[in-house]
Amino acid sequence: MSIIATNINKSFGDPPVHVLKDISLEIKDGEFVALTGRSGSGKSTLMYILSSLDNPSTGTVEISGKDIAKLSEEEIHRFRNEELGFVFQAAYMIAELSVIDNVLMPTMKFDQKEKRRSSAEHLLDEFGLKDKMKRFPRQLSGGEQQRVAIARALVMDPKYLFADEPTGALDTESGDVVMNIIKEINAKSKTTVLMVTHDPDFAREAGREIHLADGAIISNG
Ligand SMILES: Nc1ncnc2c1ncn2[C@@H]1O[C@H](COP(=O)(O)OP(=O)(O)O)[C@@H](O)[C@H]1O
Ligand SMILES: [Mg+2]
Repeated sequence: MSIIATNINKSFGDPPVHVLKDISLEIKDGEFVALTGRSGSGKSTLMYILSSLDNPSTGTVEISGKDIAKLSEEEIHRFRNEELGFVFQAAYMIAELSVIDNVLMPTMKFDQKEKRRSSAEHLLDEFGLKDKMKRFPRQLSGGEQQRVAIARALVMDPKYLFADEPTGALDTESGDVVMNIIKEINAKSKTTVLMVTHDPDFAREAGREIHLADGAIISNG
């Protein structure tokens, strides 16, 4: 089982701008891969395509043996909800909900809130937020909010975690905490991680680095 991308091309606009150029790669289950490259090199676009959030212009993406373009709308929603976790540069909390209810958001879709509550609490405890579960997002620091976002990404126990510059908006210390959490998720739970990062130190901590330049892979491993 793995993520297999074959001859991915992506263009935007008219006239089309060719943003990803014939990208093929495989990410094996349990790997921790850093995706690096300059701003505008196509990292986020590639991550969205590998994680089913966007479609390639040509080429295929298989996740866990499924060609994601062939799934129905309902199948892809369920698959994303159950197997994929997402973290972005901003935490995107719902301001009106408590921390624990934010973490439980993904469980609502298929009515698993009560089943997942203890796991949500356990994640927040592990991430040093046991005492802050009933607070609201505005009462947390940026680093704490990002830890809540990671707990939310993990509450359904996904096989894959996709993170687009998860430390990008954080100070060094909070960034290190978030990075350590992501490393531990990969090491302990065997969650496959694809993380876009600007930070060469963080990239080195991943098991493999895929480097993009101008929409093409220039080094892979
Ligand atoms: N939705 C879009 N429409 C048009 N152009 C886009 C869109 N998304 C990304 N691009 C362009 O594709 C290129 C790669 O963007 P992106 O994947 O966000 O790069 P990175 O994440 O490496 O900074 C950039 O030139 C960007 O302007
Ligand atoms: Mg980006």
